[in-house]
Amino acid sequence: MSVLITGIGELTTNSEVTGDALVIDGAEIAWVGNAGNAPAADERVDVEGRAVLPGWVDSHTHLVFAGDRTAEFGARMAGKPYTAGGIAVTVNATRAATDDELAAVVRKHIAEALKQGTTFIETKTGYGLNVADEVRSARIAAEQADEVTFLGAHLVPPGEDADTYVDLVRGEMLDAVAPLVRWADVFCEKGAFDYDQSKAVLQAAAAKGLGLRVHGNQLGEGPGVRLAVELGAASVDHCTYLSAADIDALASSDTVATLLPACDLSTRQSLPPARALLDAGATVALASNCNPGSSYTSSMAFCVTTAVLQMRMSVEEAVWAATAGGAQALRRTDVGVIRPGARADLHVLDAPSITHLAYRPGVPLTHSVWRRGERTN
Ligand code: NIG
Repeated sequence: MSVLITGIGELTTNSEVTGDALVIDGAEIAWVGNAGNAPAADERVDVEGRAVLPGWVDSHTHLVFAGDRTAEFGARMAGKPYTAGGIAVTVNATRAATDDELAAVVRKHIAEALKQGTTFIETKTGYGLNVADEVRSARIAAEQADEVTFLGAHLVPPGEDADTYVDLVRGEMLDAVAPLVRWADVFCEKGAFDYDQSKAVLQAAAAKGLGLRVHGNQLGEGPGVRLAVELGAASVDHCTYLSAADIDALASSDTVATLLPACDLSTRQSLPPARALLDAGATVALASNCNPGSSYTSSMAFCVTTAVLQMRMSVEEAVWAATAGGAQALRRTDVGVIRPGARADLHVLDAPSITHLAYRPGVPLTHSVWRRGERTN
């Protein structure tokens, strides 16, 4: 089944191809160009001057959870600081939930994101924190998400000895979870895991063949970025507090700086230094960090809007970061881009240009979405 899409008012491809029309064939983009030269297709859809871009690639979420942290959010808005310790509240609720309840939470948030144009999503374990609950989190995530990350090193479970827990994560837990995931991550931050503990977990994961990611520099400057670059991690996520040396290290590495502005707003932190990163030559991605504690949104458009209005990214930089940047953070070349051979993941805006994402903040602008060549809304 092939579909010719015409009438594209502005086409963002993140690639060398340009035009005002494209053809989807099955799950892939088959052709991009000007409508006058378009090949025949089974069906034709005229988007009547709307902007078309790749679907959002959300490279950082924590969707395998149960429970609610509204009260903690309320306390934060009244002035209480965010700390890593809140994770334990979600761990208790997640351990108590059934498999079906957890799967329903994942399903609900992926569907919510898809309606807003997110066609590719990563999610993590990290609210199980024992072998059985991390394995079931990974299994439930793998049934629904495009990419899955093992985050056993999210928090030392309250009451447990840190070094004993690190040994468990890099030993028995990693052995059990590794077959279900592509990535391993650590929360390298005060109150979670220090440099040595984080490195031990990541090195064990790399030895198992997993790709590496790091949560770092979220609550203050620290060793997360340095560690990520040293180990060749695909991405270091948060990057809210960076030293000049961190920015230089990122700029001269293949490690993507994944910024999570909705999290910084929801935890009343500063916004990350996107301009300094981009000006230094670092690769920047934007992601939602959807989770019940620090960032309870699935809206990539909100992240793009914030990046433009408050982080001094151009609309083009922000849209690239939320599509191709997310793909690069996951080391994928088949998504976040429109070109022949790429996955047919398209986001049609009810607007003539991507500029409207910042010009009309808060307005739901998703008109229609194709994922793997199928129109979903
Ligand atoms: O990315 N920073 C660590 N993990 C999550 C927060 C999880 C939580 O508070 O439940 C994050 O912000």
